[in-house]
Amino acid sequence: MQLQHEQGYVDDQSLKELSQRRKVPLYRLEGLVSFYTSFRRDPPPKITVQVCRDVSCIMQCSSRQRREFLRTIGQGDDVEVREVSCLGRCDTAPAVVVNDHPVAPLTLFDADKLGGWCDVRSSNEDDVRGNWCCDPYADVEEHYTTVKSLITKRVELAVVCIQRLIDSGLRGMGGAGFPTGKKWDLVARESSETKYVICNADESEPGTFKDRVILSELPHLVIEGMILAGLTIGAERGIIYLRHEYGPERRRIEVALDNARRLGALGKNVMGSGHAFDVEVFESPGGYILGEETALLEALEDKRGEPRNKPPYPGTFGLEGKPTLINNVETLAMATTIIHHDVPWWRDQGIGDFSGLKFISISGDVERPGVCEIPVGTTVAEAIELSGGMADGKSLKAFLPGGASSNFLASKHANVPLEFEAMRSVGSMLGTGAVIVFSEDRNLFELATNIVTFFRNESCGKCVPCRTGSERAVQMLEQVISGETDVTELDVLSGLAETLEQTSICGLGQVALNPILSSMKFFPDDITR
Ligand SMILES: Cc1cc2nc3c(=O)[nH]c(=O)nc-3n(C[C@H](O)[C@H](O)[C@H](O)COP(=O)(O)O)c2cc1C
Ligand code: SF4
Ligand code: FES
Repeated sequence: MQLQHEQGYVDDQSLKELSQRRKVPLYRLEGLVSFYTSFRRDPPPKITVQVCRDVSCIMQCSSRQRREFLRTIGQGDDVEVREVSCLGRCDTAPAVVVNDHPVAPLTLFDADKLGGWCDVRSSNEDDVRGNWCCDPYADVEEHYTTVKSLITKRVELAVVCIQRLIDSGLRGMGGAGFPTGKKWDLVARESSETKYVICNADESEPGTFKDRVILSELPHLVIEGMILAGLTIGAERGIIYLRHEYGPERRRIEVALDNARRLGALGKNVMGSGHAFDVEVFESPGGYILGEETALLEALEDKRGEPRNKPPYPGTFGLEGKPTLINNVETLAMATTIIHHDVPWWRDQGIGDFSGLKFISISGDVERPGVCEIPVGTTVAEAIELSGGMADGKSLKAFLPGGASSNFLASKHANVPLEFEAMRSVGSMLGTGAVIVFSEDRNLFELATNIVTFFRNESCGKCVPCRTGSERAVQMLEQVISGETDVTELDVLSGLAETLEQTSICGLGQVALNPILSSMKFFPDDITR
């Protein structure tokens, strides 16, 4: 990564020198460089423009407008235009990044500003901060007082943290929903002297951008969650695994880390506890698959980011074979809130029988796409209202409640709460809480095809069924859309989906065809429209 940063690319000569210097076989370095999307093999042009090609972004401009834009800017001197996977900025769709700076809300229609690309202010560096209910602190000097007060009271910190998390019912917000207290407890029980805490900040699934906002606005809650986790499980090292496109957020995290050190919350003697714990940021070399926890570990170990076979799970055999606690950004932030306020407060935040708060990313056909913090129990219809209602006054046709890997649900389910079990009971999932909204005139067959294409593009290729099955599915779907093939050809899709589900070693392959199958089941008219 250092070479890539310093030179802007990794040439053959530098790679050979690195191989000799580090005594690493050249084929291994070649294997790494060819795997990760952020490496270049040739000098970069003066201006690189990356345009997102995924679902929330393509909804904001027609294919004609898009082709026109790409053609126009591609003609500039020393300009390279690339279509890329979700940039984590689906709220400012269509998302565009110029020389690593997010330039939204610059839109595809502003192509005439090409000369001034580099001067365009990044989209969210100076955003006004929100008032977040989950933040217990009124100002910077109060940060980290949750960990401080537990240490000062000389309570059994690990016991208090684990018990509160278990009683709160908090579940992982990275998609799988594993109970957080149970995970902390499992890793705490491991007897190894070396353990690690990893914050998974690699969010890359189309429609998902809540972690970006949390990292930007509430980095202290995430860092404090890591400290509490470190002291609970007995780790001295924490790593924030951050997607490389989150440059502005990284700067905010670094400021928050410096502040945590100033306040004595990180370092050799955390808040006078006698325990050491520090946190570093690791910049992901790129790719959606790296958010899968074992692929992430492989990347941290300087290998190709291909998921491992499980078990063993990271809690017992994680980074460098040591017990490793991996949690999502939001999970760690909410862990701090729960441990600070205790469980009765957390329960009171929910609506009715539901407990707690939840961040959701909402994009697609709403007036104000963005991140909302909602009481659990809030319905999809209410979340749409919070986002200014349906765009252009149109009516709701369908939505994806949990990002690109969840099943489509029809408007009749808009009154279902955004909650794990509630979403499961109607045949979809909460996943990362990334709600993508589709209005009456959307063709869901085409949009679902775009989603399958995303999974095809991002498959790491380790499992043959995922690699070739996703490719075959995309080919068939494109042929049906172009009229080359009859729709009956798609009868094989459900069998293919079953094969992928049973033979893929990670969640990407297991769910890759779900969105298209659910769109075909609930909206068959869109197939031939
Ligand atoms: C293909 C794929 C991508 C994933 N990407 C992310 C991600 O970007 N961020 C994340 O927190 N979890 C992601 N996950 C889930 C992680 O593997 C893991 O379950 C999660 O980080 C655990 O944290 P949690 O228990 O707090 O949810 C992904 C899973 C898969 C299969
Ligand atoms: S299921 Fe797909 S993405 Fe996951 S490990 Fe296998 S090939 Fe890679
Ligand atoms: S930035 Fe385009 S779908 Fe996320």
